[in-house]
Amino acid sequence: MQTKFLSADPSGFTAAAGLLHDGALVAFPTETVYGLGGDARHDMAVARIFEAKGRPQFNPLIVHVNSIETARNYVEWPDMADILARAFWPGPLTLVLPLRPGAGLSPLVTADLPTLAIRVPAHPVAQSLLAAFGGPVAAPSANPSGRISPTMAAHVEAGLGGRIAAILDGGACGVGIESTILGLSDAPTLLRPGGLPVEAIEAALNMPLSRPGDDAPLTAPGQMASHYAPGARVRLKARDKRPGEMLLGFGPVEADLNLSPGGDLTEAAANLFHHLHALDAKGAKTIAVSPIPDHGLGRAINDRLRRAAAPRADGS
Ligand code: TXA
Ligand code: MG
Repeated sequence: MQTKFLSADPSGFTAAAGLLHDGALVAFPTETVYGLGGDARHDMAVARIFEAKGRPQFNPLIVHVNSIETARNYVEWPDMADILARAFWPGPLTLVLPLRPGAGLSPLVTADLPTLAIRVPAHPVAQSLLAAFGGPVAAPSANPSGRISPTMAAHVEAGLGGRIAAILDGGACGVGIESTILGLSDAPTLLRPGGLPVEAIEAALNMPLSRPGDDAPLTAPGQMASHYAPGARVRLKARDKRPGEMLLGFGPVEADLNLSPGGDLTEAAANLFHHLHALDAKGAKTIAVSPIPDHGLGRAINDRLRRAAAPRADGS
């Protein structure tokens, strides 16, 4: 794939918005770092984000929107969210809030968590892109997994050139470190220090923040062994369907549902959470899953399936 450079002007914004509409990926500047953007409602687009970054796991992503009003379509909105958003948005603060049911986002965005990380970026180029696109943009930092976040278009090109449709060039990022992430689904908790000082948040709320590291080992979100626990048991690497099982297929097999009959790992990632939920809803007691190749996005799919198959806290 040839990665296009788009200029930060009306024709560049229109071209970038068109690519996002088609499910393609566009890197764009925010005031913190460059983000790798895709339509947050589009399963294949979100799967392509994980593919382009080479992430071995489905970490949840931050959704970028243009205003407080838009954010409220996607998340529950406690008073503290309102205070902080009015004080610091647009800006380098991400709020993690309960996801509103039926919000219409791809479940891959939240890695199927019941919470959503959301922010309104301040960079004028990000604002213009969001206005031209008119929808929610999922965007992790635009670097390959395990590398540092890019603060210039040239960094993005060096890391992801050839793997994404376009880079919207908006010069160097002013803040240069990622947004501060604050969990608000419970007591306000600092999940990641970043571009907005903790002191500013504590002053606005007039209270100290909890830090997960204070008394418990920091667990990356969504990384608990049995985080995704369907009601059904899960049997991996199934070559057959045993009595009482439903088969979640991959490749040319006869199955109750198939992640990708043609064996496409991006399509399989896009379907993963939808199909697990659908088989659960059909009342499956055990979901048998075809073997998934352990390369590219297959590694993230297998990671999540192993968690789903892990022994449950209740011993079942
Ligand atoms: O400044 C930034 O935040 C940049 C720009 C592009 O906005 N984005 C960024 O995204 O740094 P990323 O994916 O590199 O980091 C997002 C972090 C991850 O560590 C992820 O685990 C956490 O946000 N996160 C996302 N959703 C979450 C959720 N529902 N609960 C807890 N943590 C979440
Ligand atoms: Mg990152």
